[in-house]
Amino acid sequence: SRTVTRDADGALTVGGIAVARLAEEFGTPAYFLDESDFRARCRAWADAFGPDADVFYAGKAFLSRAVVRWLKEEGLNLDVCSGGELTTALDAGMPAERIAFHGNNKTVAEIERAVEAGVGRIVLDSFQEIVRVAHIAQRHGVRQRVQIRVTVGVEAHTHEFIATAHEDQKFGIALADGQAAEAVRRALSLDGLELIGVHSHIGSQIFDMAGFEVSARRVVQLLAEIRDEHGVELPEIDLGGGLGIAYTSDDDPREPHEIAKALSDIVTRECESAKLRTPRISVEPGRAIVGPTAFTLYEVGTIKPLEGLRTYVSVDGGMSDNIRTALYDAEYSVALVSRTSDAEPMLVRVVGKHCESGDIVVKDAFLPADLAPGDLIAVPATGAYCRSMASNYNHALRPPVVAVREGEARVIVRRETEEDLLRLDVG
Ligand code: LLP
Repeated sequence: SRTVTRDADGALTVGGIAVARLAEEFGTPAYFLDESDFRARCRAWADAFGPDADVFYAGKAFLSRAVVRWLKEEGLNLDVCSGGELTTALDAGMPAERIAFHGNNKTVAEIERAVEAGVGRIVLDSFQEIVRVAHIAQRHGVRQRVQIRVTVGVEAHTHEFIATAHEDQKFGIALADGQAAEAVRRALSLDGLELIGVHSHIGSQIFDMAGFEVSARRVVQLLAEIRDEHGVELPEIDLGGGLGIAYTSDDDPREPHEIAKALSDIVTRECESAKLRTPRISVEPGRAIVGPTAFTLYEVGTIKPLEGLRTYVSVDGGMSDNIRTALYDAEYSVALVSRTSDAEPMLVRVVGKHCESGDIVVKDAFLPADLAPGDLIAVPATGAYCRSMASNYNHALRPPVVAVREGEARVIVRRETEEDLLRLDVG
């Protein structure tokens, strides 16, 4: 990220602070998040989409009270997908009308809390949920603003587990066979609901704009069908998140203004040809905002050279703080950051301290051959879906998130302690 540099000795500094000092003060493993970069990315998205669109940060990528305050200050909205995320958002003062509530299986209790809080929108994911939310809203004497999540049948070119708009998966209501049109019909007929638009999220870590364009086109076509059948022009569409980031130097991510322009061009063009009023567009980037802003700092422990093969470098964390490599075959890079080295590069696999051989953090990378226990290494681009998917496997203590800004570092999520573990264990 932008405030990470190397000082004269080659040691990494973040926001002007040497990593060795960070490690000393906060321990390892730990995530260090560049707050200025996070805020700059929020502004870049808000500026790219402009005043006639809305940017909802996807809290699932990483959420904490500090993050909520930054979003609020930078004018972003927030997408939550569980009662826990909703609580965090409200507790940190995000106005309810700036919150969107997602999920394919929201519980009745969660829906009630969202309705009571007055969230700006609930994204309806199924036929059952249309009825469920309508009843709850009616019971509370309100008309809940809702969108319907449709699956547009796009095969996003990403890992199967994070692609979401093809039909054979659990999310949303298919455009195919008139199902989405039927869902709209039902939502419009229920007093408890104010249907404000249609939602489509095609997947995650996507570089190819074509999928977003097809999705936008199909969503606008649905708006035209709805106008033709019901005489209503729904005022909003949400095109989801999913913009990819650079994990390694092979990745070439699109910038927010490129996606903003591509989406608004296609929506405008399609609306013109269908003679529709252009709807207000919203998007839900998670990874693209927080992913690049953080890195994980580890201390090197056991080093196991395998002649002619590779060297296994064990760190003091692993799949409990970054499950993405094991789960999605995700690629990361790694760098020695506590010192410089002129030693030859050696092929390494960075692994964790967990009890399984799939506990890999970085599958293939090069580190200097004089790497030694006690060295600090950093894995960049771990801001998204690492802390938020962290686990206590092997009773690991989940690492802290430290925000760094203008030469100051402060813990925003503290390290878990053994007392935390024992507190839950009430047997
Ligand atoms: N909107 C909806 C409805 C979503 O389901 C998601 C992500 C997003 C927005 C944000 O997508 P993003 O801009 O962050 O790509 N754990 C996986 C990613 C799962 C994404 C789930 N939904 C990973 O680590 O890659």
